Amino acid sequence: MSVLLQVHQLCKTYGAVEALDNVSLEVNEAEVLGVCGDNGAGKSTLMRIIAGAIEPTAGTLIFDGVECRFNGPRDALASGIAAIYQDLALAVDQPIYQNIFLGSEILIPTFVPGMSRLDKTTMRQQSGEFLSRIGISLPNVDSPVSQLSGGQRQAVAICRALRWHARLVIMDEPTAALGIREKSRVLDLIRRLRDNGISIVLVSHNMDDVVSVTDRIAVLRGGKHIGTLTTTDVDADRLSHIVMSGRVDAA
Ligand SMILES: Nc1ncnc2c1ncn2[C@@H]1O[C@H](COP(=O)(O)OP(=O)(O)O)[C@@H](O)[C@H]1O
Ligand SMILES: [Mg+2]
Repeated sequence: MSVLLQVHQLCKTYGAVEALDNVSLEVNEAEVLGVCGDNGAGKSTLMRIIAGAIEPTAGTLIFDGVECRFNGPRDALASGIAAIYQDLALAVDQPIYQNIFLGSEILIPTFVPGMSRLDKTTMRQQSGEFLSRIGISLPNVDSPVSQLSGGQRQAVAICRALRWHARLVIMDEPTAALGIREKSRVLDLIRRLRDNGISIVLVSHNMDDVVSVTDRIAVLRGGKHIGTLTTTDVDADRLSHIVMSGRVDAA
């Protein structure tokens, strides 16, 4: 299995707080890596650094064999790393297809120099294609996002990542606000993304979700990476115990 992202000796300090303390880990191609840890373990800090939202104090990211220094989330996106935050950052009054192309609209030049217009036909058609790639059929890509369920909104956010040709998608607590049925739909979405060859980093408090959808699980505690588990070796109870105790060998 080949490595897509190598996180190498990452440190992030806030004054006296070591949010990340020499964290090294790898994300393989087409794998779901869970990131677990108690509150304050450094999960969000790690995620934000990978997504280009904050800079590390020390350490490097090597993505697809190339050392990266991101100057903001746009840089990370352009390199193929997309983050989906809990609020999804959707424009809920706007149609589905415009959300998928938010910030990367397809334009057609007009006869007026320097003026272009939106290529809505192509964006609508490609939106349908992105959705079907992840196994979602929505009645109409012209519907506003406000009419969608929580799981469908996640699908729209995922399609936006596909639109950016993301090879790594980072998701922060994607199931936290969802009911049971919607939750299982989002877990299916994650599996289908992986089947499309995309790697996913899943930050979650929900041990059942993590155990059901990941291939490996990195455990953080107090800013340190205390170990990475193979998911088939643990169940939700054992994982929970490991996260609480901070000991990978915990029974
Ligand atoms: N912007 C910040 N300023 C100061 N301290 C921060 C900041 N962000 C995170 N921290 C601290 O870094 C540690 C790790 O935080 P975080 O990455 O949010 O953990 P988690 O997401 O695992 O709960 C915590 O002690 C937190 O208080
Ligand atoms: Mg957090």
